[in-house]
Amino acid sequence: VNIFNDYSLYYDLLYSEKDYISESNYIHYLIQKYAPNVQQVLELGCGTGIHAMNMARLGYTVHGIDMSSTMLQQAENRVQDFLKQDVVSLSIGDVRDLQLNKTFDAIISLFHVISYQITNKDLDATFATVKRHLKPNGIFIFDCWYGPGVLSDPPRSRIKRVENENMEVIRLTESEVYSHSNTVDVSFHMLIKDKVLNEMREVKETHTMRYLFVPEIQKLCQTYSMELLFTYTWLKEDLVSTKDWNLCIGIRMQGDK
Ligand SMILES: C[S@@+](CC[C@H](N)C(=O)[O-])C[C@H]1O[C@@H](n2cnc3c(N)ncnc32)[C@H](O)[C@@H]1O
Repeated sequence: VNIFNDYSLYYDLLYSEKDYISESNYIHYLIQKYAPNVQQVLELGCGTGIHAMNMARLGYTVHGIDMSSTMLQQAENRVQDFLKQDVVSLSIGDVRDLQLNKTFDAIISLFHVISYQITNKDLDATFATVKRHLKPNGIFIFDCWYGPGVLSDPPRSRIKRVENENMEVIRLTESEVYSHSNTVDVSFHMLIKDKVLNEMREVKETHTMRYLFVPEIQKLCQTYSMELLFTYTWLKEDLVSTKDWNLCIGIRMQGDK
């Protein structure tokens, strides 16, 4: 079962306060700083396509892939105009075995897509995908859960309520840390009210997330002939610290691929 297939229906509503514009500007800034000639971008786990749309507005050509057909459907609706102009393209695919037979100047993977790759095998396969699709000297930027931050300030239960004219969602989040596997089971219990039909639905989902440590990312870089460029606090240019949950990683593919 692909949890994102259901989730996509209320994903944008749940994250309507997420500042996708600042995030896209931040990625644009990092690309310009570290690889100013980037034109073609591959986005792994593009979800509902908001970063892809913003990156297209910033002048990039973007190919987005995601394994959830319903998330991709939302993306397709969102970027229709860019699809017509061939500035954005989308396809279904898994970051662990993608084979587009094409290389890109940059690869991005945002909002914890890499933390959804929970086993060493998944992470290895994802880095192999990046290697197959990145040009020599190309750059790979992603964000993920940061191990020291998660362990020093473990996740707490939270409740969130969001609504628009069609639906209301109340979401209880409870998390359990599994420190032997560097993972957290994030369990969502949601009550979804369809305001038009006046019906209530209850949905339970668990997302297993892996938190990462810098040395294991360095090891992956070594294995795949890549150079670790930076380990920033997400949305900043400061070295990540134990106070941070969200790590932004920049990696460069070696020139002699
Ligand atoms: C939290 S969402 C982030 C979506 C989007 N990047 C954003 O910022 O809104 C995680 C996305 O990763 C996708 N995903 C997770 N694992 C994946 C995999 N192995 N291959 C492709 N997509 C994956 C999910 O389908 C989902 O759309």
